[in-house]
Amino acid sequence: MKARKVKGQHSFLGCRKPVEHRRFIHGLLSSFHTSVRSIVIFVQYPHFLSGTLFIDSSRKPIDMKNSKTKASGNGAEEEISSKLGKLFEDGVRDIYWAEKALLKALGKMAKNATSEDLIAALELHQTETEDQVLRLEKIFSLLGKSPRGKKCDGMEGLIKEGESMMDESDEGPMRDAAIIAAAQKAEHYEISSYGTLRTFAQTIGLNEAVSILEETLDEEKETDTKLSELAVSNVNLLAASQSGEE
Ligand SMILES: [Fe+2]
Repeated sequence: MKARKVKGQHSFLGCRKPVEHRRFIHGLLSSFHTSVRSIVIFVQYPHFLSGTLFIDSSRKPIDMKNSKTKASGNGAEEEISSKLGKLFEDGVRDIYWAEKALLKALGKMAKNATSEDLIAALELHQTETEDQVLRLEKIFSLLGKSPRGKKCDGMEGLIKEGESMMDESDEGPMRDAAIIAAAQKAEHYEISSYGTLRTFAQTIGLNEAVSILEETLDEEKETDTKLSELAVSNVNLLAASQSGEE
């Protein structure tokens, strides 16, 4: 029996119904669009293929020693004013403000702490923080910029939170626990910031800044580890005091 041709239906590459026809055309256009996009991405961002996004392996690292003089002579100034360079500079300003704020906060924490080990750890880190501020000033000088901080909302919030925690806790092991918690939050912020800045510096070839940032990053990590150890001993103290009260 002959199939009846329904008005409005067309046979296009085996698609007899109008819906199938539209789906076929839509699929064709979609595949074409995806292929064109892939080609465009490949041409614009070839580093995706090597997994080195942001890192241009053909770019020579910039020797930033006495960069102010060299920068104007060999085009390095253009490199530094790149978007990532600006982000790096902003990050250095942020952590410079944060370190100076933390310097004062550490002193306040040490005054409020009871454990001698904790006081010693906080005072030691205060001294280290003074050196860290000086290291950041060296980075400013490598960038050919004057040391100027930019208010760090993150650190300001962590310090405020730490002060509330101290105010709301009883003097002794409980307040020490609050101080350790607050100090570790600040350390983690710094570890994250210095890790990011180190990677930015590596990416844009600021080799001297990389080693300076790594030195501070290691100090921050060591402080964090020490605080963790103190936290454990403080928990033991808390446990001991609780068992004594019973
Ligand atoms: Fe620090």
